[in-house]
Amino acid sequence: MKVLIVGNGGREHALVWKVRQSPLVKEVYCARGNAGIWKIAKKVDISPTDIENLAKFAKEEKIDLTIVGPEQPLSEGIADTFEREGLVIFGHKKEASMLEASKVYAKNFMKKYNIPTAFYETFDNEKDAISFVKNTGTPIVIKADGLAAGKGVIIAYSEEEAFQTIRDMFAGKFGEASKRIVIEEFLEGEEASYIAMVKDDKLVPMATSQDHKRVFDNDRGPNTGGMGAYSPTPVITPEIENEILERIMYPTLRGMIEEGKPLSGFLYAGLMIGPKGINVLEFNVRMGDPETQPIMRRLKSDLVEHIMDILEGKIDRVKPEWSNRYAIGVVLASKGYPGKYETGKVITGIEEVEKDSDIVVFHSGTDIKNGKLVTAGGRVLTVTATGETLKEAKDRVYKAVEKIQFEGKHYRKDIGDKGIKRLQTAL
Ligand code: AMP
Ligand code: GLY
Repeated sequence: MKVLIVGNGGREHALVWKVRQSPLVKEVYCARGNAGIWKIAKKVDISPTDIENLAKFAKEEKIDLTIVGPEQPLSEGIADTFEREGLVIFGHKKEASMLEASKVYAKNFMKKYNIPTAFYETFDNEKDAISFVKNTGTPIVIKADGLAAGKGVIIAYSEEEAFQTIRDMFAGKFGEASKRIVIEEFLEGEEASYIAMVKDDKLVPMATSQDHKRVFDNDRGPNTGGMGAYSPTPVITPEIENEILERIMYPTLRGMIEEGKPLSGFLYAGLMIGPKGINVLEFNVRMGDPETQPIMRRLKSDLVEHIMDILEGKIDRVKPEWSNRYAIGVVLASKGYPGKYETGKVITGIEEVEKDSDIVVFHSGTDIKNGKLVTAGGRVLTVTATGETLKEAKDRVYKAVEKIQFEGKHYRKDIGDKGIKRLQTAL
């Protein structure tokens, strides 16, 4: 088979890495990829959102399966176009991708189908939004309606901060994405990611994971796309997983069918688990980044075979096998991310750390300039390792992280700590 992966990040590098291991696969292509991906897949020099040209390429090259990494091509209709052209693709149609592309849509959907989520209101003007905050008080969560790369959510701890955020959003801080906003109740608890491969009313769970969204240790600083993740997470016990399936995942699949927007692809529920039970913070219509990196490190069975079975109506026989080791991924970011940052910094040390066969370094924003590997994005690399215990995986990954260098390297030092603490107190 020939498989095309669409996207440029660490998630896509992990998907390419895994897909390449499939005995069914002869050739892997990636549009457009990054310096790490180009070492193991054929570079397709087409932007992930240039849907017409991607479809043309897939037809000409006779691609047997396309897997979409990021949300943008999905919400711009890549699956609709590919299907119309008779191409096989794993990813939701445009209408179904609304579940991620519009927070207003997702919140209204959850309300309609009784899927647990924070109390909220939606607003299209500053005055009503401000008076709502005056009534509810703080902390309060303010979300731009549209896609903002994980950065369009602000937790305001004071009224001043809330008012300023509301003004900024309506003044166009996130462009079109913040013309409408959701303001919702602040939920206490611990976050976890629940991802499944889904098709119509059926699903196959992936391994559980936990991301770390804030840029600094101890969950401080602004939200990012994710600074590190590990799998599995002890926050999601078997009982909690059951509840997630029964109260969140299956009702979502059925609800989307009822809305005439059946799902087909990865579905990711971002959860808050705490005193108010299990609540959905957001849905994503794709795999998580960086969650994919540790999850793929643990998947022993063949991802391509699973996806083909799902697309061919044989989902009932899909039974992924997971390693019982813990896997962890730490993101190395550019100084300044998620705000402004510089690029073009030379990266060293990757070959050295990969001498340990348990270390796999996935690239996010990297490029080759003048023959040298350089930084080319906010998130630059995800360094992954595994271990018998989460602590062992953590110690191993950080030894590697310290040996990789580039100017302005920033990373969190506490990835996995919440899980380690929870596992220790469970003993
Ligand atoms: P979202 O993109 O909606 O998942 O929000 C991004 C991040 O903001 C989440 O991963 C949480 O860390 C935080 N967040 C979002 N909504 C809430 C909420 N209602 N209460 C507390 N934290 C939240
Ligand atoms: N890691 C969070 C996300 O992919 O949205």
